[in-house]
Amino acid sequence: MPPNETTLPALLNRRVFASGAAAGLVSACAKTPDEAFVNVYSARHYEADRKLYDGFEQASGIAVRVLPANAEQLLERLRAEGDATEADLIVAADAGNLWRIQDAKLFQPATSPILEASVPQRLRSPAGHWWGFSKRARVIAYRKDAVEPEEVATMEALAGPRFRGQIVARSSTNTYNLSLLASRIERLGADNARAWVAGVRANFARDPQGADTDQIKALAAGAAQATIVNHYYLLRMAQSPDAAEQEAAARVALCFPDQAGAGAHINISGAGIAKYAKRPEQARQLLEYLVSDQAQNLLAPINVEFPIRPAIAPAPALAALGDFKEEDVPLEAFGRRQAEAARIYEEAGWR
Ligand code: FE2
Repeated sequence: MPPNETTLPALLNRRVFASGAAAGLVSACAKTPDEAFVNVYSARHYEADRKLYDGFEQASGIAVRVLPANAEQLLERLRAEGDATEADLIVAADAGNLWRIQDAKLFQPATSPILEASVPQRLRSPAGHWWGFSKRARVIAYRKDAVEPEEVATMEALAGPRFRGQIVARSSTNTYNLSLLASRIERLGADNARAWVAGVRANFARDPQGADTDQIKALAAGAAQATIVNHYYLLRMAQSPDAAEQEAAARVALCFPDQAGAGAHINISGAGIAKYAKRPEQARQLLEYLVSDQAQNLLAPINVEFPIRPAIAPAPALAALGDFKEEDVPLEAFGRRQAEAARIYEEAGWR
């Protein structure tokens, strides 16, 4: 997992609660009655999220307490806690991670007219176990001085002879890559996916290593010409206080691939109500808030991801990337096809 989703609990520590300390923090929260809170287990740690939770607190009078963890830790913890958990709402990035929680039977289905009306059908689980509230694209990043944009117009191109020895990639065990391939399997079938993986693997400049940001840095350093990343990593590097990151980002550009075909791969950040939530009603209210006009408009200008609703304008840096066509695959397929995707990567030797 990338650092933003694992190691920035300090950003959220205002109402963070730790194992066994929850009761103490409740009584420490003098302004709200004991029942007027909701616990969020979150694998998504953006500063923007705290602003969202603040907005909910103001609108509802319900305090939001956040337990940060990465996706693996979060699942492990929920499993260990079972019906004793204090988790009410579970937030995670990537439909593949949300599906793992669903598959472990740690979500309960939920729905409401607000949720139904706000979240496009393909961006939520069919039975309401999880609901997207923010969107990301997994796209091609390329070195500007070595690649013409039209050479990376399709994901297919990365598997072709043009990029022999010029591709770097993240490990296939990463959920982002599992979802990317699961989506391809759903759309084009396993044989196509197998051929694509073999082609890209044959083009590797080095064995898969590092996170998305490391792939961008490898391009900037001249180790390769193209890679696959979530769109927000390059934007973050471009806005980094670190001059070296800014310089690296300046050498690299993004291409939203397959614009004449199926569209760019889309994933979500999403949330669902914990199976053993002690405050399911408060959790549902928070979930509804996350996709409400108020929250989406509050989140949009400060978010590194796209709003879940097409009608709401994204942050200026995202809008500057231009409109793009999105792949139209129901995200539940990313879970359904996850094991098959892992097998195909494994067989092709993309570790
Ligand atoms: Fe990420």
